[in-house]
Amino acid sequence: MTLTPAALRQQFATDFQRPTYHFLPPSNWMNDPNGFIQWQGQYHLFYQYNPFGATWGNMHWGHAVSRDLIHWEDLPIALAPTPGGPDETGCFSGCAVDNNGVPTVIYTGARGEKYDLQTQCVATSHDNLLTWEKYPGNPVLSEVPAIAGQQENFRDPFVWREGDSWYMVLASEIRGQGGVIFLYRSADLLSWDYLHPLQTGELHRDGYVWECPNFFPIGDKWVLIVSAHTGSATGTVFYFVGDYHDHHFTPIREGVLDYATLYAPLTTLDSAGRRLLFGWLRESRGDAEMRRAGWSGAQSIPRVLTLDDQNRLLMTPVAELGNQRRAHHRWEAVTLNGEIDPGVKGWALDIQSVCQLQAAGVVNIGLACSADGHERTDVIYEAATQQLIVRTTTYATGDIKTTASREITHALDAGEPLRLRLLLDGSVLEIIANDRTSLSHRLYPKDASCDGLRLAGSNATLQTLDIWEMASIWG
Ligand code: FRU
Repeated sequence: MTLTPAALRQQFATDFQRPTYHFLPPSNWMNDPNGFIQWQGQYHLFYQYNPFGATWGNMHWGHAVSRDLIHWEDLPIALAPTPGGPDETGCFSGCAVDNNGVPTVIYTGARGEKYDLQTQCVATSHDNLLTWEKYPGNPVLSEVPAIAGQQENFRDPFVWREGDSWYMVLASEIRGQGGVIFLYRSADLLSWDYLHPLQTGELHRDGYVWECPNFFPIGDKWVLIVSAHTGSATGTVFYFVGDYHDHHFTPIREGVLDYATLYAPLTTLDSAGRRLLFGWLRESRGDAEMRRAGWSGAQSIPRVLTLDDQNRLLMTPVAELGNQRRAHHRWEAVTLNGEIDPGVKGWALDIQSVCQLQAAGVVNIGLACSADGHERTDVIYEAATQQLIVRTTTYATGDIKTTASREITHALDAGEPLRLRLLLDGSVLEIIANDRTSLSHRLYPKDASCDGLRLAGSNATLQTLDIWEMASIWG
């Protein structure tokens, strides 16, 4: 008997580590967002999905649809590998476009046991994005530009319309040199001409292979996003902002889109003119624990991307999330001195805080705290060092053990307060500081009683602290 998506989700009802207001599939493994597009008023999200287990493999495209980017209806699998076809070992990441009224996805087909024959494929839908027909002439692009010369890392098409042509960026690597993004042009999405590298990376600084490029305008600037595979368990998402003329890109600013857990983001433009971004929030636990859990991976709350007057990329969770807010707790002008328990508990919280720090100021928001305060995840900012820190501490067998800690530089402009947005949802924690520094994190406390909060700090005042308890999106 196959369970309905709702029944599958119901099996996890008591798993407090499983997010309740972030999107994830009914069960099993998910990674990158794919084919994100608004079609006739509905948002379609596809995603890298393993229907057979909670670890990576057997890549299919899962599919869900939403009217508000928050509540999702599960739809049948959209793409599955075709035995003997160019995607026989995996339907890897890609995008969706509106080709004159025909929904079309362009994705990477993987072949070979090691997925090392990667080519680009096309599929179209004639029933409102429900089922997909693969183009019989697939792959539509298999030749790798000579400067890369290897088919093992040649993937993740991102396509847009410019004038009378389609353009595509593809991610790859130049061996010994670093990541590269190639630019292509096509009249029909089926036959592609290679133009030139749009951007190249530096091995020591930004990874050996780039993945999942996005390239799009905001105002009169263009933004390139790449996910850098560094070979370690975590990669980093970089962005470049610059000028784009005659199909050449000149970056004038670069930055980090997320420092930790958010990876392989995909953007789309909606009918309201918003550039929306979904990012995969990876687990930071091992295969055995993912198998035991029966699920893996969540998508971020979609973020609206803009640029500030210094061309820094700003990210704001969509306003639609506000509809999930329930009980509201608010504090004003809290001078931090030692640790206080604000008396709010929860596994699904939306926290917003504005904080003024003196030169030696420190603010610390403790989440998922055990009653004794030993087990906890702290979000800390230190004005003197400009460090934003997330630290999970467990208290296993009597020894305090820091299981995960990340420190990054977050510089405040002159006179600028620290503004924190924390989205806690089971094991997911999205941290966004001043809309521009993103440090996503995962935490796996020992039991559901670790649901307390603590506020601490010195030489700092919380001008406002708002906490909303969040409702589940699954009814
Ligand atoms: C990024 C990525 C992509 C690839 C997909 C395969 O996480 O490695 O480059 O298309 O995942 O699942």
